[in-house]
Amino acid sequence: MPSQERYLQKIYGRRQAKGLRPERSRLYETLLPDIAVPDSANSPLDLHALFPQDSIREIWLEIGFGGGEHLAWQAERRPQVGFIGAEPFLDGVGRLLKLVHETQLTNVRILHGDARPLLEALPTGSLGRIFLLHPDPWPKKRHHKRRMASRWFFREAARTMNPGGVLRIASDIPDYIRWTLMNARSALELEWLAESALDWQRRPDDWPQTRYERKALLEGRQPTYLQFRRRGELLANATPQRDL
Ligand SMILES: C[S@@+](CC[C@H](N)C(=O)[O-])C[C@H]1O[C@@H](n2cnc3c(N)ncnc32)[C@H](O)[C@@H]1O
Repeated sequence: MPSQERYLQKIYGRRQAKGLRPERSRLYETLLPDIAVPDSANSPLDLHALFPQDSIREIWLEIGFGGGEHLAWQAERRPQVGFIGAEPFLDGVGRLLKLVHETQLTNVRILHGDARPLLEALPTGSLGRIFLLHPDPWPKKRHHKRRMASRWFFREAARTMNPGGVLRIASDIPDYIRWTLMNARSALELEWLAESALDWQRRPDDWPQTRYERKALLEGRQPTYLQFRRRGELLANATPQRDL
């Protein structure tokens, strides 16, 4: 796994606020340092330090939050949940910072970078939910190794979620959904929650539309919504949710 800095430089350019609109650029310099997830390469992330508030009962993670509208919507409605968002795209980080500032959200932490090392650094059983909404499809076969919903991802999702935790994935690319469901089968701890076609055709009420989904629908592509639940008893080395 490349370091955050190398990954960002290679795929998304340098990690700096240049190019952002003035207000977002100011928030990148002033607000982000206060709510940034520390670069946790090689060490388990200290969730107590990240969310010192007693009011926080659970931690939810959004991978590739894009413009941050889904994350901000959830965070505003669930002040008792600590939200971690990971996004390498600078413009997306700037947009979420603006939403956090405007709505005065105190339960959001941001990683401007690759979600994969972050997932590996999260303690076992520490997450209540994971969102992976419209991950980059990487349609060419030779690029499939860059896709997020890999077997490795499902292993890590099963490890980091506490029993009863829910993983939500959406995509408007049928091939990505097929590939995702195939990989999901390798994680026996995860149970796909669909009972009828409506369950994957209809977005639940507590799942707001993202910018990418709106674009897909305007272009005539129908999204599929997947939900997986973490089975099982609390793991021996899990992080209790009320005592992070
Ligand atoms: C198609 S966009 C969808 C954005 C948003 N979830 C939405 O639905 O509007 C995919 C997003 O995943 C982000 N992404 C790509 N690789 C990532 C990684 N390794 N870690 C975190 N986010 C990543 C991209 O920067 C991009 O914002």
